[in-house]
Amino acid sequence: FAFTPENKAKADGYIARYPEGRQASAVLWLLYLAQDQNGGSIAQAQIDYVAGYLDMAPIRVHEVASFFTMINEGAIGRHHIQVCRTTSCWLRGSDEISKACLEEAGIAKLGGTSADGAFTVSEVECLGACANAPMFQVNDREYYEDLTPETARAVIRALREGQALQPGSQSGRVTSEPPRDGR
Ligand code: FES
Repeated sequence: FAFTPENKAKADGYIARYPEGRQASAVLWLLYLAQDQNGGSIAQAQIDYVAGYLDMAPIRVHEVASFFTMINEGAIGRHHIQVCRTTSCWLRGSDEISKACLEEAGIAKLGGTSADGAFTVSEVECLGACANAPMFQVNDREYYEDLTPETARAVIRALREGQALQPGSQSGRVTSEPPRDGR
């Protein structure tokens, strides 16, 4: 594994944000770049590469990677469902959302991947959309909010069938999400 020239330039840019000799401070940025380049997850090859790039011991890089839920060590499904389990979402039924996601995706337990490789379902801490709890994100990019077990299942079914989806509130509530055309 090695960064593409484009990612190498990005990595060097991140490192340059920190004082000389403190390149290890950029470890999370580089792990995220490596994960993106590697299709959404990392393995030992990416850990070793980032460690070498930053002159760190691989175990130190692994410690960071295993702490943050935005870094996926090991293979994940094509659709990574991350259900928020923090206070607002939990009080509004995140346990039931996780259960519905696992059942609909055909996964036995959290962190698992469906046999067809389509889904991984895991739980994460607050994703900053507490006003629209409960919610989950898909592939680090799309938020589905104001979920019920039924709408959570519907999102998963639509993902499986490749149907067009509308992220944001699934209850029809108007949110403060900025317009997607950049205005
Ligand atoms: Fe779930 Fe904040 S508690 S988004």
